[in-house]
Amino acid sequence: MDSTGTLWLPPGHSTFASDVDFLFYVIAYLSLAFFVIVTVGSLYLAFRYRNKGKRELTSGIAHNVPLEVTWTLIPTILVFVIFVWGFKDYLKMHVSPKNAIEVKVSGQKWFWSFEYPGGVTEVNTLTVPVGKPVSLLMSSQDVIHSFFVPAFRTKMDVLPNRYTRLWFEATAEGEYDIYCTEYCGKGHSEMLGKVLVLKEQDYNNWLSEAAAASSSLSLEEYGEQLYRTKACITCHSVDGTANQGPTWKGIFGKTEKLADGSNVTIDENYIRESILNPMAKITAGYQPIMPTFQGILNDRDIDALIAYIKTLE
Ligand code: CUA
Repeated sequence: MDSTGTLWLPPGHSTFASDVDFLFYVIAYLSLAFFVIVTVGSLYLAFRYRNKGKRELTSGIAHNVPLEVTWTLIPTILVFVIFVWGFKDYLKMHVSPKNAIEVKVSGQKWFWSFEYPGGVTEVNTLTVPVGKPVSLLMSSQDVIHSFFVPAFRTKMDVLPNRYTRLWFEATAEGEYDIYCTEYCGKGHSEMLGKVLVLKEQDYNNWLSEAAAASSSLSLEEYGEQLYRTKACITCHSVDGTANQGPTWKGIFGKTEKLADGSNVTIDENYIRESILNPMAKITAGYQPIMPTFQGILNDRDIDALIAYIKTLE
């Protein structure tokens, strides 16, 4: 169910958003109530029995069984209720329905990539249909990241060498933020994405168009599309502007000085190597920050990027 926005979170748009909010507020207000009872009680007793200068003998009562049973039993019952309630919600959120659409998610410094059934891939945008369960099979290419969609009230760590899973069913069309919530280095705060929730029909159209696009475009056009959708654009300009990585304008055929002092001619093999193994040959004056695109770009994608770079004279 949808839920309204709160002081901490945007309006909820997944099937379990309102359950999460409800349990959260029950725990928050219970904690507040006990905080008030304990603090006000302590202050009252400290004032009531303060040292008034006279030496008074207090009573010798050391225990009050009914009182102690009460203050033990009530909180114990409350935490058991919270445990069972929370565990039921936890199971609901962590066991994906069988009919869910499975999308593979890969986290890496510092972007998200998504692979849909049929092999379509996207970077930093997760496109899903409304009202359908979507199950994410997630892993990391490098360090620990964490996949968080506040509007869906769901979050899961994304680990190297292991798969984790998260599922949701969006209840409203729209665009929702994806955050990385595990500090993963310099670009952590920029590791942002969007969930784009479409009508089922629009989602199906988008998926089949995306699958067809890679075969109907010319290699250069497809390369230009990849340049934008695979986040190359974040670090490489195509108009000569300096950025975190070398500009692609006029780069093909150039001889560049490398960080180790040697020279290299920018040809097809150099570009291919730099995409798959970016640390191999770093251009002098740049930081070794480029992530590998091994497993994200296939051979045709790499051919397309090379063809596109060749057009940028
Ligand atoms: Cu990825 Cu923080």
